[in-house]
Amino acid sequence: MKKSDKIFIAGHNGLVGNAFLNLLKKKGFKNIITVEKKKLDLRNSQKVEKFFKNKKIDYMVMSAARAGGIIANSQNQKDFFLDNIEIQNSLLKLALKKRIKRTIFLGTSCIYPKFSKTPIKEESLLTGPLEKTNQCYAIAKISGIKLCEALYEDFNLDLICLMPTNVYGHKDNFDKINGHVIPAIIAKIEEAIKKNRKKIKLLGTGKPIREFIHAEDLASAILFNLQISKSRLKKVFNSKLPLINIGTKDEISIKQLALLIAKFAGFNGKIIFDKTSPDGTFKKNLDSKIINKLGWSHKIHLKYGLKKVIENRRHILK
Ligand SMILES: NC(=O)c1ccc[n+]([C@@H]2O[C@H](COP(=O)([O-])OP(=O)(O)OC[C@H]3O[C@@H](n4cnc5c(N)ncnc54)[C@H](OP(=O)(O)O)[C@@H]3O)[C@@H](O)[C@H]2O)c1
Repeated sequence: MKKSDKIFIAGHNGLVGNAFLNLLKKKGFKNIITVEKKKLDLRNSQKVEKFFKNKKIDYMVMSAARAGGIIANSQNQKDFFLDNIEIQNSLLKLALKKRIKRTIFLGTSCIYPKFSKTPIKEESLLTGPLEKTNQCYAIAKISGIKLCEALYEDFNLDLICLMPTNVYGHKDNFDKINGHVIPAIIAKIEEAIKKNRKKIKLLGTGKPIREFIHAEDLASAILFNLQISKSRLKKVFNSKLPLINIGTKDEISIKQLALLIAKFAGFNGKIIFDKTSPDGTFKKNLDSKIINKLGWSHKIHLKYGLKKVIENRRHILK
């Protein structure tokens, strides 16, 4: 990869896309392509093709998606299904049309069956039923993986599918309802502090265990995968599409996570769990032996990353 290569980041304003954009800028990449959603709706394949008609793309990172927490997922199943399928179809057709040198497809740990043995290995894909609360999102992403597989096997297109664990970071959606677990807890605690409330209510039992990765670490994993040689990948995957988990082993129960956030945010009130709301899958940590063997591992540990995110929020909200 050269610093002058043209790299298209789809979804550059999002949590992951923005962290990747910052990393590329820091590393001195000169030809980064981005486009605002209001200018180009990536669900529209014809418009995508027209927009890029006379533009060269060397590499593409697919970080545009409809993503969200358990409530957003379960209440907007149609949109999670259609938006993700349409975005990935447009982008993967573009990758084929332009013969993009390498495309990174971003999936999620939700693609794995609800009762997968943990830590979840890549080979668990399609071995059992999915978790109900996010099955439309998961099926959309699985269809993306299968399209990548078809393009890889039948058209010799270079693609890598990365399956990150739960991501958090500075550009998260800090919405109490639609956000992922970390930003939703932070938002609830910030509101309680502001309104001088003595307790907050969180969804579920607090018992599920989750693994987290900071968006900046995921950005470094994406760059690592863009740069890794084909021969190296071939040694590990033979002639199969590379499907690679990106995890950290930074695991914590939702209750412990909430206590940690409360401590860093300076909230001394009570944390109550609404046991009538769904927990989702009990444990979803990934087996990351493949990516670790290839030579990548995360750097930002959860406590440090959380502290930084909360400090940054305090600074913004001032
Ligand atoms: N966050 C996680 O915990 C997590 C975990 C595992 C995997 N992932 C995967 O990582 C990828 C990035 O997730 P994220 O958390 O960064 O999501 P995000 O913060 O919601 O960002 C998604 C980006 O996609 C853009 N986008 C959405 N619909 C679009 C459309 N129709 N046309 C053009 N752009 C559109 C959004 O634009 P606007 O900003 O303009 O709305 C936003 O910039 C996704 O594939 C997701 O499935 C995320």
